[in-house]
Amino acid sequence: MAGGRGTRLRPLTHTMAKQLVPVANQPILHYAFSSLYEAGIRDIGVIISPETGADIRASAQLWQPADVTLTFIEQDEPAGLAHAVKIAHGFLGASPFVMYLGDNLIENPLTDLIASFRQDPCDALILLKSVDNPQAFGVAQLDANHQVVGLEEKPAQPKSDLALVGVYLFTAAVFEAIAQIKPSARGELEITDAIDTMIAHGRRVRATRLEGWWLDTGKKDDLLEANRVVLDAYCQPNLAADVVQDGAQFRGRVSVGEGTVVRNSVVQGPVSIGKHCVIEDAYIGPYSSVGDGSIIRKSELDNCVLLERCHIEGIPTRIEQSIFGTDCQLVRNEQPPAAYRFMIGDQSVIEVV
Ligand code: G1P
Repeated sequence: MAGGRGTRLRPLTHTMAKQLVPVANQPILHYAFSSLYEAGIRDIGVIISPETGADIRASAQLWQPADVTLTFIEQDEPAGLAHAVKIAHGFLGASPFVMYLGDNLIENPLTDLIASFRQDPCDALILLKSVDNPQAFGVAQLDANHQVVGLEEKPAQPKSDLALVGVYLFTAAVFEAIAQIKPSARGELEITDAIDTMIAHGRRVRATRLEGWWLDTGKKDDLLEANRVVLDAYCQPNLAADVVQDGAQFRGRVSVGEGTVVRNSVVQGPVSIGKHCVIEDAYIGPYSSVGDGSIIRKSELDNCVLLERCHIEGIPTRIEQSIFGTDCQLVRNEQPPAAYRFMIGDQSVIEVV
């Protein structure tokens, strides 16, 4: 699922699809693709929107291994996840399938889930995770035997703290249920309602509690958290052969892309620095990702996500827990500054703490 408008991740999503926002310097969507690939899936349908479809297509093709077939299916309107499944009916046919939301990420390999789906057949296998804010998700109600008895989308008064994770396994029985549901209060055909309808009609729906981490990169803090978790899980020490290191200290797990120059700086991993960056007289602290072509001089970063071509220079106070979109500049020329000059995009947030 790589459609939708990504309103909760603005301002980044004013100019990019939420599924392409990078985590540890890779679009979130690529992790979902890799997870499907590792589970042996080679036939992937990608739901795209008219607004960001071309970008998703280009990014998906960058990821695409030679033995994978990608089929792009355009959803005209963000009319809901169940609507997306409905328009993919021709592609899916009668086959059982995995539905993976392109802005979600789970630690567990899909292989185990698919094996469980095959060994103990059911019409839907859903994943649940206990969360502090179930109101923000689909929520499951279980009986004393841990069977799912009902599901509600974003309930004001949740019946449990068990959120529906954005990875689902279905048989073609889901299409009958989708044909019976009506749009929700937010005007979408909800997959949650379709699964609830399956239960009401006696279809077998099984739930598994997810033990590993689950990331839903919908908002700023979620994105920083995702960057932390993914760097922790996947970042490996890896310096490209041509990285210039002149007075550079790399501590812990640091990955640096080709053509990057690091001078007189300390990089404390886990950190991912992209290609063709310049890091000078700087400190890059743990859980930071620096996008390709960025320049960081005379500044300190900690737990930051910088998209491509950011320029940060001469900032005397440490910058922490911050996200910079592509081509952002934060530069101080004079000491002390005589004035501040800003050009800040719509829905940006600046906190001086
Ligand atoms: C969607 C689903 C919701 C699920 C969530 C997981 O929500 O409707 O049931 O818990 O994904 O990320 P949305 O992101 O569309 O608000």
